[in-house]
Amino acid sequence: MRFLGFLNEFNQSWAKHAAAIVIVLSKSTFTPPGGSAEVPAPTHSFDTGAAWGYLALQASLSGWNAHGMAGIEHDKIRQGLAVPELYSIEAGVAIGRAGDKSLLPEGLQAREVHTPRKPLAEFAAEGRFVP
Ligand SMILES: Cc1cc2nc3c(=O)[nH]c(=O)nc-3n(C[C@H](O)[C@H](O)[C@H](O)COP(=O)(O)O)c2cc1C
Repeated sequence: MRFLGFLNEFNQSWAKHAAAIVIVLSKSTFTPPGGSAEVPAPTHSFDTGAAWGYLALQASLSGWNAHGMAGIEHDKIRQGLAVPELYSIEAGVAIGRAGDKSLLPEGLQAREVHTPRKPLAEFAAEGRFVP
């Protein structure tokens, strides 16, 4: 599978059985409504992140799993897929049906648990930025 080679070694080790590997790009310019020229899109990563979030939710609703990955080979992707500089390479996504946990190496089996959610107060603040 060609796209598997766009993942780092760790991600290849478990994603090799995925039904699909997706590389998410974002376009760093856009044509504003009513405009005719492309201008910088300061929120291109934010927008694309939102789109990926909905992809993950829809996958889950449809009985699939979508697993986002930062561990991708940016240079290989840019060259291999001839991605123009105008586009940022954001992340990889492995999509597939959840397999049997026992098929994973031991270290990864231990990670197959639901992760707890952080309390809102840990990352949201009112007024000034709180480090
Ligand atoms: C910034 C970021 C990068 C990640 N990169 C990888 C990765 O390269 N490979 C991987 O297996 N998991 C990676 N993960 C973890 C998975 O996406 C993980 O399954 C997911 O964060 C779990 O979501 P949950 O905490 O909502 O259950 C990454 C998570 C984050 C937040």
